[in-house]
Amino acid sequence: MAKSIVIVGTQWGDEGKGKIVDMLTDRAAAVVRFQGGHNAGHTLWIDGEKTVLHLIPSGILRDGVDCIIGNGVVVHIPSLLEEFDALTAKGVPVAARLRISAACPLILPTHIALDQARERASGQQAIGTTGRGIGPAYEDKVARRSLRVSDLFDPARFAARLAAAMEFHNFMLQEYYGVETVDFEQTRDAWFEMTGRILPLVIDVPDYLHDLRAKGSNILFEGAQGTLLDVDQGTYPFVTSSNTTAGAAATGTGIGPGAIDYVLGIVKAYTTRVGAGPFPTELFDDMGEHLARVGMEFGATTGRPRRCGWFDAVALRRAIVNSSVSGLCVTKLDVLDGLESIKICVGYRLDDEVTAAPPFLVSRYEDCEPVYEEMPGWQTSTVGITELDRLPDEAQAYLRRLEEILETPVVIVSTGADRDQNIVIRHPFD
Ligand code: GDP
Ligand code: IMO
Ligand code: MG
Repeated sequence: MAKSIVIVGTQWGDEGKGKIVDMLTDRAAAVVRFQGGHNAGHTLWIDGEKTVLHLIPSGILRDGVDCIIGNGVVVHIPSLLEEFDALTAKGVPVAARLRISAACPLILPTHIALDQARERASGQQAIGTTGRGIGPAYEDKVARRSLRVSDLFDPARFAARLAAAMEFHNFMLQEYYGVETVDFEQTRDAWFEMTGRILPLVIDVPDYLHDLRAKGSNILFEGAQGTLLDVDQGTYPFVTSSNTTAGAAATGTGIGPGAIDYVLGIVKAYTTRVGAGPFPTELFDDMGEHLARVGMEFGATTGRPRRCGWFDAVALRRAIVNSSVSGLCVTKLDVLDGLESIKICVGYRLDDEVTAAPPFLVSRYEDCEPVYEEMPGWQTSTVGITELDRLPDEAQAYLRRLEEILETPVVIVSTGADRDQNIVIRHPFD
C-alpha cells in the first residue's frame, strides 16, 4: 500500500533528516518541503561526494523523484536559483524535478536586513538566528502583507506590493534600527529578471499531491529544523518562526492530516543545538568537545560550532507526542564509538523535584538539571554497519533502552554519513 511519510527532527535540528530523506527516496515518487526556508542545511553524502541543500528538497539527487516546495516554506528566490544553478552545474536535472507552490511567501532582502539588524540590536538577548530573514518573512505572512510566488505572475501587482512592503521595512530599518535601507528599484529590477525562471516551476501542490496519492505513489514530507525549535512547542523565544512538528506537513502543503500515514522522527544518538537558548544536557567539558569533534558538529548553513550534550529522553518523549511519531531513526550512533560510558537524561530536577516531563513554564527550562542513567559504552567501530546483530552488544543495549524509555520503536539506525550506512530494522514504507 502506498504511504505518505512525514520526516521530522525531534531535537534542535541537524539530526540528519536530509540523509535519511535521500536514503528513503529509492521508494518514493516525491519529496515535499513544508516549512522553514534556507535557514535549513541538509547534508547528503553519496559515494564520497557531499551536497548541502537549503531550500531544495533532499530528493533532488534521485532519478524519477519530484521535489516540491510547499506553501509553508518561505522562499528567497535568489538563494533558490543559486542552489538550482549549483546543482545543475553538477549535472542534476533540477528544472525537470523541482516544483513550487504559488502560495509560498517570499523572503525579501529587507527581511534579511531586518533579521540581522534585530539580532545585532538584541545583544545578549539575541536568538542566534541564521540571519536569513526567516522571522520577518513569517511575520509578514501572518500580517497578511507578504508577497507570494503567485504575485510574480503579474508584474504591475508585484511592483506595487513590493513598493509597499519595502517602504514599511525600510522605515523600520532606518528609523527604528538606524541601519542602511535597501534600494527598491534595484530590488524590483533584479527580481523581475529572475521571474522568468520561477514561473515554469509553479504548480497546484494540493492537487498534485492528491493525484499522486490516488495513483498509489509513496510520498515523503521533509521537515526542517526540529521539534524544540517549533514556534509553539519549542523553547520559546529561542525557536524558529515556523511549526516544525508533523502537523505542519498538512498545513504547509495543503493536504489534510488524514493523508499522513506514518511519522518518522529523526534523532541523534546524543544532542546538539546551534544558536542560543536552554539546553539541559549540554556538556561544557572534554566530553562535549569530543562529541563535537567526532561528530563534526558545525552548522551546515552558517558554519557555527554546534553545542553538544547527552541524549535527552525527557525532551524526546514530548517530541514524540508533539508529532505522533510512529517510529524513530537514530543517527550518528558511530559518534559514540569508544566511549567508556554513555548517559541518557531520564528526568529533570527542578525545585528539588524530579519530573519526567518538560517544565510547565518554558522560562523554567534554564533551571532544569538533568538526571542521568548511565550505560556502558562499546570499544569497537560501528561505522558503516548495516545489520543490527553486528553491532556491539552494548550498542544494541543502548538502542533497546532508548526504545523502552521512549515507548517507540527504533526502525532505522544510521552508522555513517553516507547514503548506504544504515541498519534498516523495519522499513517505514513497508
Ligand atoms: P539535517 O539538517 O537534519 O539534515 O542534518 P545536517 O545535515 O545539518 O547535519 C547532520 C550531519 O551529520 C551531516 O554532516 C551529515 O553528513 C552527518 N551524518 C548524518 N548521519 C550520520 C551518521 O550516522 N554518522 C555520522 N558520523 N554522520 C552522520
Ligand atoms: P536544519 O533543517 C539547526 C536555529 C538557529 C536559531 C533559531 C532561529 O538544518 O535542521 P532562524 O534563522 O530560523 O530564525 O533561527 O533556529 N535554526 C536551526 N538550527 N538546524 C536548522 O535547520 C536550523 N534552522 C534554524 O540557529 O537558534
Ligand atoms: Mg541541518
